[in-house]
Amino acid sequence: SILIVDFGSQVTQLIARRVREAGVYSEIAPFTTAEEAFHRLQPKGIILSGSPAGVPEEGSPRAPQIVFDSGLPILGICYGQQVMTHQLGGEVRPGHETGEGGEFGRAFLTVTRPCALFDGLWAEGERHQVWMSHGDKVTRFADGFEIVATSDGAPFAVIADEKRKYYGTQFHPEVVHTPDGGKLIANFVRHVCGLAGDWTMAEFRKTKIAEIRAQVGKGRVICGLSGGVDSAVAAVLIHEAIGEQLTCVFVDHGLMRLNEAEQVVTLFRDHYNIPLVHVNAEEMFLSGLAGETDPEKKRKFIGKAFIDLFEAEANKVGGADFLAQGTLYPDVIESVSFTGGPSVTIKSHHNVGGLPERMNMALVEPLRELFKDEVRELGRELGLPEAFVGRHPFPGPGLAIRIPGEVTKERCDILRKADAIYLEEIRAAGLYDAIWQAFAVLLPVRTVGVMGDYRTYDSVLALRAVTSTDGMTADVYPFEAAFLGRVATRIVNEVKGVNRVVYDYTSKPPGTIEWE
Ligand code: XMP
Repeated sequence: SILIVDFGSQVTQLIARRVREAGVYSEIAPFTTAEEAFHRLQPKGIILSGSPAGVPEEGSPRAPQIVFDSGLPILGICYGQQVMTHQLGGEVRPGHETGEGGEFGRAFLTVTRPCALFDGLWAEGERHQVWMSHGDKVTRFADGFEIVATSDGAPFAVIADEKRKYYGTQFHPEVVHTPDGGKLIANFVRHVCGLAGDWTMAEFRKTKIAEIRAQVGKGRVICGLSGGVDSAVAAVLIHEAIGEQLTCVFVDHGLMRLNEAEQVVTLFRDHYNIPLVHVNAEEMFLSGLAGETDPEKKRKFIGKAFIDLFEAEANKVGGADFLAQGTLYPDVIESVSFTGGPSVTIKSHHNVGGLPERMNMALVEPLRELFKDEVRELGRELGLPEAFVGRHPFPGPGLAIRIPGEVTKERCDILRKADAIYLEEIRAAGLYDAIWQAFAVLLPVRTVGVMGDYRTYDSVLALRAVTSTDGMTADVYPFEAAFLGRVATRIVNEVKGVNRVVYDYTSKPPGTIEWE
């Protein structure tokens, strides 16, 4: 395995992800407890992460001495490179002292010597794109090191001591903006550390099950299902770990897509035999939403009603010691970001955020380290049907935020029908998996049309489809005109209440993915 010593970079989890992708098990330990983790884990190599801190700053973090005494290969990334240099006797100076600013964003480096990290990948004299983000820099490296790649702003872009198998990169190989970064990390863990690369999601499942058992003991766990992939995967995994100690609650707000609620209930009760409380609260949600047209008020009402109902059900089943959530790593990064000032609320996201404090429960979050595609892989590993695992993301407030203006049962039904046709056509065209998210939006606008000899005066429906890797930014999916034409014709012909279909051509930013 690989031990990743975390100095607080926002992208440390990406290092773990790249190591997983190379088929090697890794654990992240904060620098404060890394020594203990080292003894427990007995790793074959060590990676030192980046950090918001600077090595020259007083009190900035250091790697435990055992890292250097162990004789194991080390890869230091950004701050990791600098802290290694400093601790081994080299020199790191703040950017402002060297008279040069830092380097942030895309940069190009030139390979000056062969190095084990570059094996089969980068040759001498080649230029490669990397992603830099640093203010301070190494000004004198420690004994035994030499430069193997340079860039304009970082003469020590990559340094290596091949004898001790110590490597330092000033850039971040773990981010996607360093296109070959994953391969560099794979070279480190496989070639340099000699690890086989045969670790799989099946191993992750076993490790997590043991962790869940250790955390929960004989306690009771309650899990809210949303109908989405994340909470379902979390629930199935936890059920495998602790069986009947888990109760699942599905608060069905009636704002799901066509047949979606039934699919969740069938999957859990029949397929997995997991006890499930299905709260059918459609009327309650629709009556609460009646007359409301303000997007934030709609979101807030749904979030609060959801929590109230969930809490009431939890009390009915006698309460629980733990609340399980399908929190993913992107949710974690956003919530602990180092951006400093308060960020502006674009939308009040609906999740069960306020619940743990209110109910005084500890959290079980077995997916905290994973990214969406990894959760899908774990879901497959757990035997969840492909049609479920591969589903596009669906927002907590459901169709309510895809019906600008007032939400009524009638409008939900119209939207459900149109959305189902759109998705059916997308699947039939083999495009579903190439799209991050596709859905229809029912607009509070009526326009005039003509069908046969009749005048119609009905609603406009907008279609949206985007590509994205994390939902933070998104591009419009470029359907062929013939495809859109087919969908528009079918919807207008088959869905009463819609007489015009338009395609949303806005990327994010400046648009958001959902319309409200
Ligand atoms: P936006 O509309 O902000 O959406 O560009 C980004 C991603 O988040 C999903 N989304 C939500 N997910 N609760 C969720 O769990 C919510 O309240 C919520 N609102 C938006 C959206 O579908 C997209 O994938």
